[in-house]
Amino acid sequence: MSGQAVAVAHPNVALSKYWGKKPGQGNFPAVPSLSVTLAGLQTRTRVRWGAAAHRVVLGGRELEPAESARARALLDRVRDASGQQQHAEVESKNDFPTSSGLASSASGFAALALAAVRSAGLDWDASKVSDLARSASASAARSVFGGFVELPVDEASARPLAPVSRLPLVVLVCVTTEAPKAVGSTDGMRVTMERSPYAKAWLEQAPRMHEQLREALLAGDFARVGELSEASALAMHASAIAAGIVYWNGATIAALAAVRQMRAAGTPAYATIDAGPHVKVLVHPGDAARARETMKSVPGVSRVLEARPGDGARLEASS
Ligand code: PMV
Repeated sequence: MSGQAVAVAHPNVALSKYWGKKPGQGNFPAVPSLSVTLAGLQTRTRVRWGAAAHRVVLGGRELEPAESARARALLDRVRDASGQQQHAEVESKNDFPTSSGLASSASGFAALALAAVRSAGLDWDASKVSDLARSASASAARSVFGGFVELPVDEASARPLAPVSRLPLVVLVCVTTEAPKAVGSTDGMRVTMERSPYAKAWLEQAPRMHEQLREALLAGDFARVGELSEASALAMHASAIAAGIVYWNGATIAALAAVRQMRAAGTPAYATIDAGPHVKVLVHPGDAARARETMKSVPGVSRVLEARPGDGARLEASS
């Protein structure tokens, strides 16, 4: 049996952050998270069964076995579930920097999970695809769905929480380097949990912030969502920094300061930062053009991408 499928998925940005895994197997988050899936940036992935061994090509470069371990484990799961005899060839391309905290693993594993499942002839629903994506990267479970998405701690898959229309929003992605990050999120979380004097405080605080953010979002309260998103990111990074895991560079701090200055001058703008040095700014659509100009002029910010809430993973073709 051979088959192929092409899937497209978008990154998401977590408003309430996931940082830390539950002890044991299975890649389950220790805290709940809430994200918005972004349109504008995308990963496109083709999976074709018919090879003697799994092969993963990302952005034109074949990955080394150590780099493709999570993708191959995901493909093995699909192979076992479908009775597929062959192995898979994967070709994936991002239209934004890879592995630098721009959530390439989220869109990457969401697109891979959907393309792998469909190309193997499995008729899984979105929750099952999300569960599969989560096993490789928990944030990827959220990119399977569009709009505002929640990944609870007591469930295996993410679930849609509110449509795009619930909170009009623009996310300005301020790119501060094109280089890959030095510490991946799995290692960053592990070291934080093992060594940070603030790990326990983070694990206690994150679910509370998550609940508050969930309420603010459902109430359509932009300012409160913004405040809580910035607070969640800063608390996450404070716990990591205390363990020596510093994802920020000088431009990260300058961009954060610029966001706070805009706010002090009356523009509701809020910052969030994932496991990398880029700063993502949440603004009202009406403030986006002006805020973008401000962020472009921050020293060290090389470009500013504009993203809006968007759709979940989708199939482009299959046979
Ligand atoms: O799922 P991972 O391994 O890509 O980790 C994601 C971690 C953060 O981006 C920092 C937070 C989040 O909830 O997306």
